[in-house]
Amino acid sequence: MNKDIAAILVGEKELDELVTKVAGEIDADFQKTGGRLLLVAILKGSVVFMGDLMKKIQSPVEIDFMKVSSYGAGTSSSGNINIHLDLQRKDIGDCNVIVVEDIVDSGRTLAYLTEYLKLKGARSVRTCTLLDKPSRREVDFTPDYVGREIPDEFVVGYGLDYDEKYRALPYVGILKPEVYRKS
Ligand code: PRP
Repeated sequence: MNKDIAAILVGEKELDELVTKVAGEIDADFQKTGGRLLLVAILKGSVVFMGDLMKKIQSPVEIDFMKVSSYGAGTSSSGNINIHLDLQRKDIGDCNVIVVEDIVDSGRTLAYLTEYLKLKGARSVRTCTLLDKPSRREVDFTPDYVGREIPDEFVVGYGLDYDEKYRALPYVGILKPEVYRKS
């Protein structure tokens, strides 16, 4: 285990099971409704989850990416999101979008993106997250697909970072407090 990790919260086997579960739920829904399915991963944290998830979804999927950041968190209930990389496609009106995230914390990012993509004309918009921290919610938001809920711990790995490090760890681990307290 990496020396900066206090404990593994979600190991490789459980991650595989969670991704399989979410992919199955998405497939079950899309077998009912049909239509074009577009997965939109939010950079950067969701890339590892996205890569595994898209392989396990049986329905034909298209993929795309956005990059956003929040600012002024805690000062307002909505709208404090910067879009750094937007969708460039003109066929969004044909697409049933599922926004793919690694983690939902305050809920601001996905609450904002859901409305943004609806306004952009998506046929439908749903949200998917590997990890959910409902205890941290600041806005009224519930993701449609959730791998699992986790407690309010500082987690890294499987795409999640601290200061851009630890994203490549194959598990989700709890970072030792002394690592983020010293900087
Ligand atoms: C994380 C995560 C979500 C967002 C969730 O991204 O990937 O996009 O924060 O937080 P919220 O529910 O409070 O809005 P981060 O800003 O750390 O960027 P990264 O994915 O590039 O690491």
